Amino acid sequence: MSYKVDVQPSGQVFEVAEDQTLLEAALAEGMMLRHSCREGTCGTCKGKVLAGQVDHADSDLEVLTQAERDEGFALFCRAKACSDLQIHAPEVTELKGISIQKTAARVGSIDRISDDVAIVRLNLPPTMPFNYFPGQYAEVILKDGSRRSYSMATVPGESNQLEWHIRNTGGTFSRFVYDDLKEKTLLRLEGPFGTFYLRDTDKPMVFVASGTGFAPIKALLEQLAAQNNTRPVSMYWGGRQLKDLYMHQWVVDFAKNHDWLTYTPVLSEVADGDIWDGATGYVHHQVLSDFSDLSGYEVYACGNPLMVDSARKDFTEQRGLDEENFFADAFV
Ligand code: FES
Repeated sequence: MSYKVDVQPSGQVFEVAEDQTLLEAALAEGMMLRHSCREGTCGTCKGKVLAGQVDHADSDLEVLTQAERDEGFALFCRAKACSDLQIHAPEVTELKGISIQKTAARVGSIDRISDDVAIVRLNLPPTMPFNYFPGQYAEVILKDGSRRSYSMATVPGESNQLEWHIRNTGGTFSRFVYDDLKEKTLLRLEGPFGTFYLRDTDKPMVFVASGTGFAPIKALLEQLAAQNNTRPVSMYWGGRQLKDLYMHQWVVDFAKNHDWLTYTPVLSEVADGDIWDGATGYVHHQVLSDFSDLSGYEVYACGNPLMVDSARKDFTEQRGLDEENFFADAFV
C-alpha cells in the first residue's frame, strides 16, 4: 500500500510506502527535504502536515511535543503516512546528479593529526562516482548494523576519495579508528545525507565550528574558493585548547589567500604553555560580541549539539537572525 504526498508550496509530489518514513520516500525519489540526523533527535526535519493522517511512530516527545503534534507538526524522518498527505516543506532540494548509495570503501590513509583526531581518507570504487553537496555526511555501517555519521571534509573530486575527521570520543568505533584502523581496511558506507550545504544567495555568511565540526566547514571553504567566491565569510572555530584546532594553520593560510574570509579562533581553556593572545570563551559568544545584528546573514554551524542549540537560540533571539537562515549539523 502506498500514498501520495503533496509538498507545499512547491507542489512536488512523491509516493510513500506504508513502511517508509516520509523523508526516506522523498530521498528515494530524488527530493531532499530539510534534515540532519535522520534519527529523530535533532528536530531539523520538523514540518507541518496540512492534510491527512500520519503515524508519529517512535518520535520522541522531547523532540516533538504533544502540543506540536496537536498543531499538526511531525518529524518527517520518523513519521509514516496513514493516508494521502499534504505537507509543508519550504525548502525542497532536487538531488540532481546525486544518488544515495551503499558502497564499499577502502581506507587509503590515516593521519593522526592530534592526540585525539584522525584524518581518514577513503577510496571508493572508480566505477561508482560518489557525488555529494559539500557539507553533507555519509554513514559507516558497522558489523552489528549500527551506524556512525561523518561529514566529508573536501569537495567531491575526480579521485573519488572521501576525507573524514574522526575524533576519538572513547566510543568503540572512534577508539578503534584512532588506535587500530589500518590502511586498506574495507568499510561499508551509505550516503550522502544532510542539508548542511551552501545556499545560493548573496548574503554574507558566518561559519561557526567546534572541534571536528570543522570538517564540513572546510568543505564549504574549498567549494567557495573553487567558485571564486566574493561573499564575505566570517569563520569562528572553537576548541578548549589550541591543539583542538587541529588544522589551525591551514585556516590561517587559507584566509591569507582568500580576502573574503576572516578567521577567528576561540579557545575556552587556554592551556599552560599555550602562547595565546586571541579570543577566549565559548565560540558562539564571540560571534555575539562581534555582531550586533545578524538579520541579513546566513549562519552555518557545526559541532556539539549544545553549541549549535545555543547559537541558534541566541542568534535568532538576540541578534535578529532569521531562523530559516540558520543551517546546522549537530553531532548527536
Ligand atoms: Fe529528523 Fe533529525 S529529527 S532529521
